[in-house]
Amino acid sequence: MKTIRLISALTIGALVAIGGIAVAQQAGTVKSLRGVQVDEYVPLESNHKQDEKRFPRAYRQQPPLIPHSIEQHQIDRNANECLACHDWSVAGERGAPTLSMTHYLDRDGNQLDQVAGTRWFCNQCHVPQVDALPLVDNTFEPSK
Ligand code: HEC
Ligand code: HEC
Repeated sequence: MKTIRLISALTIGALVAIGGIAVAQQAGTVKSLRGVQVDEYVPLESNHKQDEKRFPRAYRQQPPLIPHSIEQHQIDRNANECLACHDWSVAGERGAPTLSMTHYLDRDGNQLDQVAGTRWFCNQCHVPQVDALPLVDNTFEPSK
């Protein structure tokens, strides 16, 4: 009895090991959607950063796309560096577009002096763009 158990344990062990090798070999040929090996480094510098002009909106309600890099601008619970240029109180002298007044309305529709908490995390809605190949084709058309 004991020998039979031992043999079957060994057989299962061997099968698992062979399976593991097969999986490992497959992983070697897996490619990411960008068409390179998953562990291959794609340098960000080759991605063009758009900062020449503002982007047209693709549909009426779209949060405008960010035409500049945001890498260096911190947003967390205590700080929001976007406001250093975009808040109504400084936008004029910084030459940046002012936050629209919708950003100063709280969820009950009250006008606030400071940007509303619901608009604090700007990049929840506004995103910068890079000139990268799209992963999937996009045939979106806005309604008229
Ligand atoms: C150093 C000042 C500065 C900071 C900081 C800054 N911006 Fe800007 N931003 C600008 C300027 C200037 C423009 C206008 C660029 C132009 O008109 O070509 C702009 C444009 C934009 C626009 C486009 C508005 C439109 O109507 O097309 C968005 C959205 C935006 N910024 C979001 C952000 C967000 C989000 C952050 C923080 C992560 C941020 N900005 C930080 C200066 C700044
Ligand atoms: C919940 C989504 C949301 C968040 C969060 C948000 N925005 Fe917006 N933003 C929008 C939409 C939608 C518009 C366009 C409609 C409007 O003006 O309200 C807009 C418009 C703008 C504009 C253009 C204003 C104009 O009149 O051209 C700027 C600049 C901007 N946002 C910056 C910011 C910054 C900076 C933050 C963070 C403090 C922020 N937004 C947070 C959705 C958002």
